[in-house]
Amino acid sequence: MIDLRSDTLTRPTEAMRAAMASAEVGDDVYAEDPTVNALEDRVAEMFGHEAALFTPTGSLANVLAVRSVVGVGQEVLCESSAHIARAELGAHGAITGLTMRTWTHPRGQVDLAAIEHLHAPDMGPFFVATAAVSVECTHNFAGGAVLPIEDLRALRAWADGVDTRIHMDGARIWNAHVASGTPFADYGAVADVMAVCLSKGLGAPIGSLMIGDRDAIGEARVWRKRLGGGMRQVGILAAAGLHALDHHVERLADDHAHARLLAEACGVDPDTVDTNIVVVERDDAARFVADAAEQGVRVAPVGPRAVRLVTHLDISADDARRAAAVLSRVAATPGG
Ligand SMILES: Cc1ncc(COP(=O)(O)O)c(C=O)c1O
Repeated sequence: MIDLRSDTLTRPTEAMRAAMASAEVGDDVYAEDPTVNALEDRVAEMFGHEAALFTPTGSLANVLAVRSVVGVGQEVLCESSAHIARAELGAHGAITGLTMRTWTHPRGQVDLAAIEHLHAPDMGPFFVATAAVSVECTHNFAGGAVLPIEDLRALRAWADGVDTRIHMDGARIWNAHVASGTPFADYGAVADVMAVCLSKGLGAPIGSLMIGDRDAIGEARVWRKRLGGGMRQVGILAAAGLHALDHHVERLADDHAHARLLAEACGVDPDTVDTNIVVVERDDAARFVADAAEQGVRVAPVGPRAVRLVTHLDISADDARRAAAVLSRVAATPGG
């Protein structure tokens, strides 16, 4: 089976396992795990922020990051298919007590006019106050789309003028960096707080980080523990993340090339594929998924009329070529 359902399906490489096995560890609740501390310092510095906090999941990093800039009864504005709005099971409302309003863009992009229109920081005691805007880069459900740095800078400039904070869900910021050439620090400069994941394109088995200033990270450390996310000798996990940062960032270019090949096979314009995710619009999505599986390629339905393919570390160039041959046959079958 060639499994294209998600880039979270990767298994740690032998070299990653060796790095994990030999990691120095300590109790991270006491902030005494040297490998976790090294990972946090390295990631904070990469993005030009003061500090970072290791979390088991991207969802927890997002909850901690968003709650650091949006209070109880306030709102965050985001794109309508953002992961924080659609796929974190209401955590931001349930845990933080915030609300969301959304703008819609087919490629998950910043729409500054729409954001300005929604923005309502102080309309008296009758309306929810906007505290922050959240952006997702790359944008998962918009097919791994990159948000251009110029748009993010324009958002930053506007937000500074209206005293509004910016959260970035950078679960796949590594893919955005490789696809656009934008330095990590430039992405960091447009956000007050970020979440980044090591367990997607980078191939670590677990691990994400919230990034922000020292105060926000100090408070997030308390909230992480409060929510049951305080971890002990997790240097063995942080070591996988450090290994991934050393060895698995630049190779994402291969995943992007494989995604373009698969897009072409499925009749999707490869120029619309920025990174490692391809969304194929099909009226016969269920049939497409079943036929592909029968021929040895697993893909995921995303709703009744779309199929998602994701390339990753465990998909070789040969796998990509074989999957493209299968998918072009499946796509050519009438019914779509
Ligand atoms: C854009 C984005 N943000 C956040 C997450 C959440 O990550 P996790 O599954 O580790 O909670 C995901 C997961 O796929 C994602 O795609």
